[in-house]
Amino acid sequence: MARIRVVFESGEPEQEIEFDPRQAPFHHDGQPGSILDVLLGHRVHLEHACGGNCACTTCHVVVKSGLGALSEAQEQEEDMLDKAPGLTPMSRLGCQAVVEDADGELLVVVPRYTINQVSEQG
Ligand code: FES
Repeated sequence: MARIRVVFESGEPEQEIEFDPRQAPFHHDGQPGSILDVLLGHRVHLEHACGGNCACTTCHVVVKSGLGALSEAQEQEEDMLDKAPGLTPMSRLGCQAVVEDADGELLVVVPRYTINQVSEQG
């Protein structure tokens, strides 16, 4: 089983999800087996303004550990990520980063600000 621990910078309670990546998809947004797909399928909220189509940055997450368990970022994801507030070398788009390691252990941080929130606050 793979595991994702989700920490919210906004202060919401941490979540831990155990799942079998081979059972993907878990939901209907994002790449099957992506962090977004896994979270939504386990009732853990993650913003996804474009519906998981690699066209926004609201699903930006920081993968503090377990990056190697994920699919490689494609060019389109890298291009979108460049626009994400608070970009880090461990940043990924939740809807594009697919958990490929069936025994992967990930620690994922959901940043406080997404582009939506930043623009709402002017
Ligand atoms: S939900 Fe829009 S890029 Fe992931």
